[in-house]
Amino acid sequence: MKVAVLGAAGGIGQALSLLLKTQLPAGSELSLYDVAPVVPGVAVDLSHIPTDVKVKGFGKDDLSDALQGCDIVLIPAGVPRKPGMDRSDLFNINAGIVKNLVEAIADNCPKACIGIITNPVNTTVAIAAETLKAKGVYDKNKLFGVTTLDVIRAETFVAEAKGLNPANVHVPVIGGHSGTTILPLLSQVEGVSFSEDEVSQLTHRIQNAGTEVVEAKAGGGSATLSMGQAAARFCLSLVAAMKGDNVVEYTYVETNSDDATFFAHPVRLGKNGVEEILSYGDLSDFEQKAKDDMLDGLRNDIKIGVEFVAG
Ligand code: NAD
Ligand code: LMR
Repeated sequence: MKVAVLGAAGGIGQALSLLLKTQLPAGSELSLYDVAPVVPGVAVDLSHIPTDVKVKGFGKDDLSDALQGCDIVLIPAGVPRKPGMDRSDLFNINAGIVKNLVEAIADNCPKACIGIITNPVNTTVAIAAETLKAKGVYDKNKLFGVTTLDVIRAETFVAEAKGLNPANVHVPVIGGHSGTTILPLLSQVEGVSFSEDEVSQLTHRIQNAGTEVVEAKAGGGSATLSMGQAAARFCLSLVAAMKGDNVVEYTYVETNSDDATFFAHPVRLGKNGVEEILSYGDLSDFEQKAKDDMLDGLRNDIKIGVEFVAG
């Protein structure tokens, strides 16, 4: 299995690369690309960890080499938020970065599964899809918006609120990855019930958890360590599925549903990426209203991405 991390010298990129170096199956390869000159050093540093995962660093002129033979490409390249910013404020810089990187993926490893982490995810995934279509290599089963951070946060916050071991708590999170488009389905958490106040407070906290980190870091960036963990979980699930395991993750994919072109669903992963998009089941009245209220915003975020590539 060969995995590339594009933006590997950044806050997420370094945490993610460390977790992959220690957790990818023996015999895997890790290809680290960044425009920052420190990236070869990050690769050398990681290469001293005694696991059977080969690590190689690639500087800004070596993107094509970094991508050769990759099965999975994860993209955390781009700028993070500062306090007072919305994820959509990152569009002007990050849209072009994602488009350029995805063009290179289309040219060098068009069959790879791609996990987009760069914000605004609601829009950058649409940019990636349109870019791949323009190159004639789009496979909707191989493009994912990584929304796993919303899931792990929801599990953490529910476990905290109910005094449970987070390892035993599973919380579905559907929709997109910003503000109210993040929709945790607390009505589906097994063995736990919530008061109306708890549902409202927990939903609000999960939807605003990114801002909680941005404010706590006070201008020093957004979530990197929890995101590294989330992206590693997503990547390792994909690797396990590609090797034949039965794995389901919540992730933002192209759907045929009436909700929006892209929507985070439970997805059965397989050898070729998406094996099956599963239903997210019945919603409570609160969740149904929250979904109805956010759909126009999510559809508009997607439209902005489509129009960006159309020019
Ligand atoms: P960071 O600034 O620490 O790192 C970003 C890295 O990207 C830097 O090393 C930079 O050199 C690199 N980079 C910039 N342009 C590049 C290019 N063209 N090619 C390759 N590398 C390039 O930022 P971070 O905290 O790691 O966050 C990265 C992105 O991830 C941000 O857009 C952030 O909003 C997003 N993010 C998403 C989620 C999520 O849940 N999907 C969570 C947290 C952060
Ligand atoms: C997050 O959810 O932490 C990320 O999307 C980063 C951000 O800007 O909030």
